Formats: sequence, structure tokens, C-alpha cells
Amino acid sequence: RTLRIGLIPGDGIGREVIPAGRRILESLPSSLGLNFSFVDLDAGFETFQRTGSALPDKTVETLKTECDGALFGAVSSPSTKVAGYSSPIVALRKKLDLYANVRPVKTTAGSSNGKPIDLVIVRENTEDLYVKEETTRDTPDGKVAEAIKRISERASSRISTIAGEIALRRQNIRSTSNIASVHSQPMVTITHKSNVLSQTDGLFRETARQALAAAKFSSIHVEEQIVDSMVYKLFRQPEYYDVIVAPNLYGDILSDGAAALVGSLGLVPSANVGDNFAIGEPCHGSAPDIEGLGIANPIATLRSVALMLEFLGEEAAAAKIYAAVDGNLDEAKFLSPDMGGKATTTQVLEDVLKRL
Ligand code: NAI
Ligand code: MG
Repeated sequence: RTLRIGLIPGDGIGREVIPAGRRILESLPSSLGLNFSFVDLDAGFETFQRTGSALPDKTVETLKTECDGALFGAVSSPSTKVAGYSSPIVALRKKLDLYANVRPVKTTAGSSNGKPIDLVIVRENTEDLYVKEETTRDTPDGKVAEAIKRISERASSRISTIAGEIALRRQNIRSTSNIASVHSQPMVTITHKSNVLSQTDGLFRETARQALAAAKFSSIHVEEQIVDSMVYKLFRQPEYYDVIVAPNLYGDILSDGAAALVGSLGLVPSANVGDNFAIGEPCHGSAPDIEGLGIANPIATLRSVALMLEFLGEEAAAAKIYAAVDGNLDEAKFLSPDMGGKATTTQVLEDVLKRL
């Protein structure tokens, strides 16, 4: 099988870590029977300054017509509003209908300062308050601003279904490896605030319950947690969680918070997933403070490559990458400065490739 992968480095250290992602794909053992071809694509602030568009049509068209998946680095967003500029990754998620944002948060023996954490946050990516339908009007009390929070049955159902599928797949990987789990069965935790927002979050909760009641998910333990106490429990007892499914805003906040549990942002991957496409994307930004120094941690990107492969149906290849990365972290000989080490981006990559 040959997979065509779009490479969108973006800005800053995106340009230093995406080449590492390409290298690991090229270095996968040939026994997997996988080949890759690549196409370089533009997006980001530098692209905007050069061409007037942060996401050129050509990038979207090439992804849609030629590619099986893609890797996205990071883009810089100006701190003051620049007319005509809007985030290309947000636009890409819409244009390719990448309705799930999947963010695994995991410690290894080497990167844990205590309890082992191995959870995945599955965030709805298309609606909720992020439909950005806001209005402001003048009233006798001064200005009043309002925003639409849209929750649909369709989006809530498909995000819950993919959360269930991820839970089952994790259970398979667990039963064939030595990953420890506090649970004997896969678990999905539905997060919401339906005690206050009985219609919107109520619909999310009910739809998620229904989707996860499907026969194929009968082995999954489904529970729910109100979002504020979810934050508390996530920080007190992160090792308890397996798969967490949430509407857009809660998922955004929970996933950044969960990333803090494992230390460096340079370790945490994500994927934007639709029915026929997946984009791997490290969670960090363009890191202007270390840009050009050659010390960006490539691990978030390498794990994002693996995550993309999982959603393209290439689980064996993904497992090899995860294992090679875990080996690097556990031995802790070649760690980048954000992890307390002295290794460069290239040295971390070479160590991971050697293990591959
Ligand atoms: P950031 O994630 O770029 O950096 C935060 C801190 O973490 C910095 O000290 C940075 O050096 C460090 N860091 C991040 N990734 C690292 C890696 N791979 N290895 C070693 N250290 C790493 O977030 P910040 O500084 O808030 O934003 C910088 C720019 O990135 C802004 O323009 C922001 O808008 C953009 N950004 C883009 C994102 C995206 O494209 N998805 C996400 C977050 C921020
Ligand atoms: Mg965020």
C-alpha cells in the first residue's frame, strides 16, 4: 500500500519537526509493506504574508484530491488582530470535515513522576460555542454580547461512536502488549454540564449514551462526569481515565490541562480525524523562543505520525513508532532540553530511528 501524505510545516519549529515526521515514515521497516509519497504544502502566517492567504486553495485542493493523510506542524498567530488572517488549522478542520480531535496523553516509565497516565481525550471539533455566531447589542444595561452554543444529534453521535471505537482499539493494543491499565475493560467517560445546560449538554449526554449503547460497544464501561468535577478528578486521579469524550469547548480545555500532566508540550500529539482523512498535529505551537536553534523536541510530531497512521488503518506501523519513542524516553539518554536533556532535534530523532 502506498500512502500519499501532505506535509504542512507552517511556521517556526513546525519547519524543524515536520521533516522529522517525514523521516520516520521513510524509515519504517519494509516488512510492513507500506510506502509513502509526499507533497509539500503551504499554510501559516509566513504564507499569509507572502500570498495574502493563510490557507491557499491549492493546499486544500491537493489534500482533498491527492492525499490520504497529512502532517501539520504549527502556525504563528499574530498577538494583535491582522485584517484578513485567520487560523488555517481551524479552516482545514472545517473544509475536510475533520470532526474529531483526538489527543492521547500518556506517561512512560521515563517520563512519569509518579502514577502512570494513559488516557485519550476525544473532542468534538465542529460545533458547540465554536460555531462563532456571536452578536453584540446595546441595551439600557450597556452592551450585551451573546454566543450560540450549537449541539446537534449528528455531531454528538459520530463523536461518541469514534470514542467507542478508540476505546475498543486501545483494549486490543493493551491485550497484545504489556501496557498496564487500572481497568479490566475499556471505559468511556462522557463529559458535560447538563445539570445546568439541560437542552444543549443534555442532548450531547443523551446522544452519547445512545451511541455507546450500540451492541458493538457492549464490552465498554460507560460513565459520565460533570465537566467541573472532571477537571478535579483528572488532576487528582489521572490514572483512572481511559477515553474521555467531550463537546468542543470542554474538550479544548480538558486536553490542554491534561497535557500539563505529562510535563513537556513537546511530547503531546493530536490528530484531526474525519471519516476518510486524518491530519497528525503536535499540540505545541511555533515556539518562537527556540526557533532556529535545532533543539525542538520532535516526539510530539513522531507520536502524531503514529496517530495519523492508526486512523489510516495502519496500526502495526503506529505501534512500532510508539514503541521506539517510548524506548527513547525510558532510556533517557537522548532527551531534548525541554525534557532536561542536551540532545538536539536530530539526535533525538536518530535515537528513535535506531530503535525502529
Ligand atoms: P508554544 O507551544 O509555541 O510554546 C510554549 C512553550 O513551550 C515555549 O517555551 C516553547 O519553547 C515550548 N515548546 C513548545 N513546543 C516545544 C517543543 N517541540 N520542544 C521544546 N519546547 C517546546 O506556545 P506559545 O508560545 O503560546 O505560542 C507561540 C506561537 O505558536 C503563537 O504564535 C501561537 O499563536 C502559536 N500556536 C500555534 C498552535 C498551532 O498551530 N496549533 C498552538 C499553540 C500556539
Ligand atoms: Mg487548545
